[in-house]
Amino acid sequence: MKVQSASRPLINGCVDSALVPQKALYTGAQMPAIGLGTFGSDQVPASEVAAAVEGAAAIGYRHFDCASVYGNEHEIGYAFQQVLRRHLKREQLWITSKLWNDKHGENDVIASCRKSLADLRLSYLDLYLVHWPFPNFHPPGCDVTSRSRDAKPYIHAEFMKTWRKMEELVDLGLVSHIGTSNMTIPKLKLLLRDARIKPAVNEMELHPHFQQLALFDFVRSNGMVPVGYCPIGSPARPERDRRPEDTVPTQDPVIVKIANRLGVHPAVVCLKWAVQRGHAPIPFSTKRNHYLSNLEGVVSEPLTEDEMGEISRIDRNCRLIKGQVFLWKEGQPWEDLWDLNGEITPP
Ligand SMILES: NC(=O)c1ccc[n+]([C@@H]2O[C@H](COP(=O)([O-])OP(=O)(O)OC[C@H]3O[C@@H](n4cnc5c(N)ncnc54)[C@H](OP(=O)(O)O)[C@@H]3O)[C@@H](O)[C@H]2O)c1
Repeated sequence: MKVQSASRPLINGCVDSALVPQKALYTGAQMPAIGLGTFGSDQVPASEVAAAVEGAAAIGYRHFDCASVYGNEHEIGYAFQQVLRRHLKREQLWITSKLWNDKHGENDVIASCRKSLADLRLSYLDLYLVHWPFPNFHPPGCDVTSRSRDAKPYIHAEFMKTWRKMEELVDLGLVSHIGTSNMTIPKLKLLLRDARIKPAVNEMELHPHFQQLALFDFVRSNGMVPVGYCPIGSPARPERDRRPEDTVPTQDPVIVKIANRLGVHPAVVCLKWAVQRGHAPIPFSTKRNHYLSNLEGVVSEPLTEDEMGEISRIDRNCRLIKGQVFLWKEGQPWEDLWDLNGEITPP
């Protein structure tokens, strides 16, 4: 594979963060259109992820996607402290965290956010998400066959109790925006109907083999920004999230052909496509050359219209993160979690 040409948009090995495209949220706030993911897939030690956060901030990243369940917010908080001491102001960063599934209770939401803030050594978050719409506890790292005895389906009235507490976090000034993750169109319709403060983003699996066009369009047409997780197809995802039928976007001939034309890794093509298409990808990497080329990719030569068209035709409807641990009934198919017939799957 060719190495990138001498016209790389780098100054002293860094990307000028002012060149990174931004996504406008309905509040008028600007969120960098690419962020660094921080889930180490249960394999990468917290210290290594924290070092990547510090390294990524040094080369131009300003957006970081964190979560309490990733088990590394304490170490990442130390990284943010260093970054803020050395060279950046808090308002130059966009930091997201997420409420885990066993903390949906009315007395848990604010405490959980405060714990993330303390771990991350911050006084506020730019964005706080409900990580999954199901209030089901399962131990971190458990197998897909693991089921909680008191697993529950999505019950809108219950979810709204959690959401009211999310809204209170905004009132308290602890978070600037709230949002959802792993939602479906029928669930979002109810939330949009009942929310006092509507979600600013929906974080969802998005890559060239899982383009989720209907949900993507719904989110955008309702004034929310789609944030795309597993944007490269999560090649190092845990064993529990692998199935023989899963496809690999970075091996798709269309992606590989474009990568060869540009002299970049296919991962970079996935990210260019994401930003040009209009969602905000949050690729994970702890390797400097990878996270640098990922950021560089979204500020350099765009994909052509023909290439964007070609990628739009390689969707395989291949969901990698199926969410089986959230199933609430014996023998249920994972598809029940995703409301595929357009209605919330009944209890
Ligand atoms: N809301 C949710 O429910 C949810 C679910 C899953 C994930 N997420 C978030 O989304 C983030 C991203 O998802 P993900 O980590 O599963 O998958 P991903 O970003 O699609 O893939 C990450 C993998 O790609 C490799 N990679 C990155 N850049 C590369 C490059 N330029 N060349 C070659 N390999 C490259 C990384 O390895 P190296 O480290 O070796 O570079 C890493 O193994 C997570 O970290 C997390 O923050 C959210």
